[in-house]
Amino acid sequence: MKLIAGNANKPLAEAVSAYLNVPLTQANIKRFSDMEMFVEIMENVRGEDVFFIQPTSYPANDHLMELLIAVDALKRGSARRITTVLPYFGYARQDRKTGGRTPISAKLVANLITAAGADRVLTMELHAGQIQGFFDIPLDNLIVAPVFVPQIQQRFNDEKVCIVSPDVGGVVRARALAKRLDADLAIIDKRRESAGVSEVMHVIGEIAGKVCILVDDIVDSGGTLCNAAAALKEKGAKEVHAYVVHGVLSGQAVERVENSPLEKLVITDSIAATEEIAASAKIEQLSVAALMGEAILRISEERSISALF
Ligand code: R5P
Repeated sequence: MKLIAGNANKPLAEAVSAYLNVPLTQANIKRFSDMEMFVEIMENVRGEDVFFIQPTSYPANDHLMELLIAVDALKRGSARRITTVLPYFGYARQDRKTGGRTPISAKLVANLITAAGADRVLTMELHAGQIQGFFDIPLDNLIVAPVFVPQIQQRFNDEKVCIVSPDVGGVVRARALAKRLDADLAIIDKRRESAGVSEVMHVIGEIAGKVCILVDDIVDSGGTLCNAAAALKEKGAKEVHAYVVHGVLSGQAVERVENSPLEKLVITDSIAATEEIAASAKIEQLSVAALMGEAILRISEERSISALF
């Protein structure tokens, strides 16, 4: 097996390498003066089972292009099998037409990865499970519950916990976690009563006096999460915490989280933390390196991935 890291998340790739006790194969990824990218794999990969680790996080287009060019280099270097490891699949939110003359960019990105020469995809907590069908190559979509559940159980052992989906789209994920934790479930329904009137958050479920744990796949601007936390507090939640898989945290998101009623926001290292994120006392990162590493090992040994969950 060969492990190669793109530039998007070197710390995660190094942690996966340490878990597997497989050194990272060096790749020279550089730019020409017009900013075109160039990738050269520095070791022989002929006949190898190669895993290229690269979340397509900010700057998404650069990281995606780097991934595509690296896959092309591996293909032309006669790798036996190329698995693109995408801890975070950027563009996933564009998974359907939202109006006339709009794209389905998630499908386009899936086509690009396949056309570049990838044989498999390993990813984690896709925004919508159906995105798996956008790829005509095998795809494994890891769930992050084995990372979140032990900490939630340990931290809130003596509390009455309610898992909350911050929008209707996240109910399946929240319900699955609530089931594992044997906890209650609540849903936030966002509604604009009429045009020009600000959004009203309807909380569906009994949350008064409980520790509410918001669960989501992505925190980007932080708007969804912070508004949900405020609504829960207003309806009598004892405390509000959040567990979100992918910490995109763009723009003023960290400041927004800092100033919100959230006690803690727990994210994973699927996306490399910026200095601002790492310095935040309210944001905590849990590593998915062992989960990713174990999945890579199982793919390489042709063993079951679902047995992991
Ligand atoms: C939306 O469907 C996603 O699951 C997240 O809730 C959303 O992307 C979060 O975005 P933001 O943090 O910008 O509100």
